[in-house]
Amino acid sequence: MTKVFGVDIGGSGIKGAPVDLERGALAQERHKVLTPHPASPESVVAAVQEVVRHFDHQGPVGLTFPGVVVDGHTRTAANVDKGWIGVDAAGLFGDALDLPATVINDADAAGLAELTHGAGQAHRGVVMVLTFGTGIGSALFVDGTLVPNTELGHLELRGKDAEHRASSAARERHDLSWPDWAERVDEYLGMVERLFSPQLIIIGGGVSRKHEKFLPLLTERGAEVVPARLRNDAGIVGAAMAAQAAAEAH
Ligand code: BGC
Repeated sequence: MTKVFGVDIGGSGIKGAPVDLERGALAQERHKVLTPHPASPESVVAAVQEVVRHFDHQGPVGLTFPGVVVDGHTRTAANVDKGWIGVDAAGLFGDALDLPATVINDADAAGLAELTHGAGQAHRGVVMVLTFGTGIGSALFVDGTLVPNTELGHLELRGKDAEHRASSAARERHDLSWPDWAERVDEYLGMVERLFSPQLIIIGGGVSRKHEKFLPLLTERGAEVVPARLRNDAGIVGAAMAAQAAAEAH
């Protein structure tokens, strides 16, 4: 089987590793570099080159991006350098690495990994993966099929972008206690549930490691709410899955 590489481009770090797609796990220990600031396309491309060249990899590369991605083009950049808007990111990474590159929204990548190898395994119906980090990312699945770029972190909550109130970064920025932050997350989940009626909500992002601090504080609801299982590796694994799917489609 071709080896596939996954890269997760985040606000603080850019990390990557070859992925074992059968197990849905990293095939080697990941390599991480700090995200350059400003995270302009040129500087991010250079950092990605450093991550991939750390390994002796030949073959497809999948990359996550924290914004809307349509046909390899990055369309929005809420929490990254605005220079990314309208860029042919797949072309840019592919040329720089001289390897076939696929770019996918970060939450969509995490969602693919969770649905195949994690907390959403074999779940049918409407499943929502929400990642709480610098922003709030969303991935919506219907019978296992992804509806990409749902961007539900930008739903309006109390007159603001929801992610400005309820992301993990908002908890840190406003120095909120776990119960205070859980109340905001609860309100957000209530809104998402009213709009989409998911049967399962998977909570991902770095903060999902600390799920015992806030998941028990949430209101009982129609949807089952569970923590993500792949944690830190979900983005890398999901990016590699997207690259593999693109390679098979060619
Ligand atoms: C972006 C999404 C992204 C999320 C998590 C939001 O601000 O608009 O595309 O998935 O942050 O990084």
